Amino acid sequence: MSEPRKRLAPTLERVTFKTSRLAEFCGEKELVAQTGHAKEDWPLVIFKELTDNALDAAEEAEIAPEVNVEVSTEHAEIVITDNGSGIPAETVEGVLDYTSRVSSREAYVSPTRGAQGNALKTIVAMPFALDGARGVTVIEAHGLAHRIVFETDPVRREPRVFREISSSLVQKGTRITVHWPDSACSVLEAAEDRFVQMAEDFTTFNPHLTLSADWNDERVVDVPATDPDWRKWQASDPTSAHWYDAERFGQYMAAHIARDEDQGARGRTVRDFISELRGLARSDKQKAVLIEVSASGVSLASFFADGQPAVSSLLTACQQHTKPVAPKDLGLIGVDHLLEDCLAVGGAEESFKYRKQFGATTDGLPYAVEVAFAFCPDREVRRLITGVNFSVGIRNPFRQLGFAEDLSSLLTTAGPEPMSQSSSFCITRAPGSREIDGQFTMVRQRDDQGSRREGHQGLVYAAQA
Ligand SMILES: Nc1ncnc2c1ncn2[C@@H]1O[C@H](COP(=O)(O)OP(=O)(O)OP(=O)(O)O)[C@@H](O)[C@H]1O
Ligand SMILES: [Mg+2]
Repeated sequence: MSEPRKRLAPTLERVTFKTSRLAEFCGEKELVAQTGHAKEDWPLVIFKELTDNALDAAEEAEIAPEVNVEVSTEHAEIVITDNGSGIPAETVEGVLDYTSRVSSREAYVSPTRGAQGNALKTIVAMPFALDGARGVTVIEAHGLAHRIVFETDPVRREPRVFREISSSLVQKGTRITVHWPDSACSVLEAAEDRFVQMAEDFTTFNPHLTLSADWNDERVVDVPATDPDWRKWQASDPTSAHWYDAERFGQYMAAHIARDEDQGARGRTVRDFISELRGLARSDKQKAVLIEVSASGVSLASFFADGQPAVSSLLTACQQHTKPVAPKDLGLIGVDHLLEDCLAVGGAEESFKYRKQFGATTDGLPYAVEVAFAFCPDREVRRLITGVNFSVGIRNPFRQLGFAEDLSSLLTTAGPEPMSQSSSFCITRAPGSREIDGQFTMVRQRDDQGSRREGHQGLVYAAQA
């Protein structure tokens, strides 16, 4: 008897579809994952990230930042203008390359606001993600308007992005216009109160900032700088060898080698590389390091090719020949500015208290914490202003203090009466750490981009009491 014929089960032949990398960026779900924020928060994400960039750009150009932000729910747009150096055209081009990150800061370890080279990429994709069909953002600088358009390719049925360049009146600084889709107008309208609060909070952390904000043509925030010459640690300040571990140092080296290759530049030597580090500008210091690791006249690429032991030995030598950064060099907002700020929100001067704490973690990373408090007789609810690295959080970064309490409840239980009517500030920053001494509790948390940032950006410190 012949064997019964086996029934062939219907099978599905799988084909691997080539999905565009761009699609990973421009859906709502993807952008929520990238930014760590639901779409209700996107107006605030746009405002925070563009203001961070504006502040960084002005500081790098060594000018006191002036930022204006205009939101119009009628014209459905968010416009942010700054007086910085102006975003270079090639940086805008790089923003549209979704296969790589573009940051002038990514490879460095330093206490800067922006460090991932991701924010602009997510922001220009937001209008499309909200609308589903088309999204437009215009970036103007150096007399050029880059109109960035996202739309769905009708044949491939996947998103595509292109850029149209025309002339612009913006010669100085940068102006970015995010065209908010009409279909998501209610999200923009609902963001008004938090937007105004965030705009004010930015001025708390930045004594050199002049910020104005207009909501539907009405000026809602208008705060002049209290100290235009105020200085903090700049993104352009040399990075310190003491802030790297061997892995990060290797990445920093590799970024330089890759950049030289991309630009077809003559590869730099180990000496060129270390000369950019803090404390190694002098040639006798460079020489001492080079002798120690036998790298005189050696190209960085061939030194790097010797692998991790070589990288580690160079890092150790650089650390031994330089001093660690003192916490006070990170910069302080300062008691004068915070007092002025407390008074501006109705704080009673006699109740004002200010404390600062400097320190270094056991891995030798410096930190500075500033806390200010004032009783506001006329306020019904507490106003809590929190931020890290001179930037404002979209959510309170001290919501979780890591020991089952949040900052608000801590203030309510531990503080003097009537805490519910007080205005209080908790301000910290640090370039990064894994541990911190007993006075402070470290909170490792997801950052505003929704991912753990390495180094300083993902770390938040909070005063324990
Ligand atoms: N207003 C501006 N003026 C001058 N340059 C700018 C401005 N905004 C952005 N840039 C440049 O574009 C780069 C990319 O900005 P983006 O915000 O995407 O990344 P980032 O600030 O480096 O890091 P992060 O993703 O953490 O914000 C910046 O590193 C900076 O060089
Ligand atoms: Mg940025």
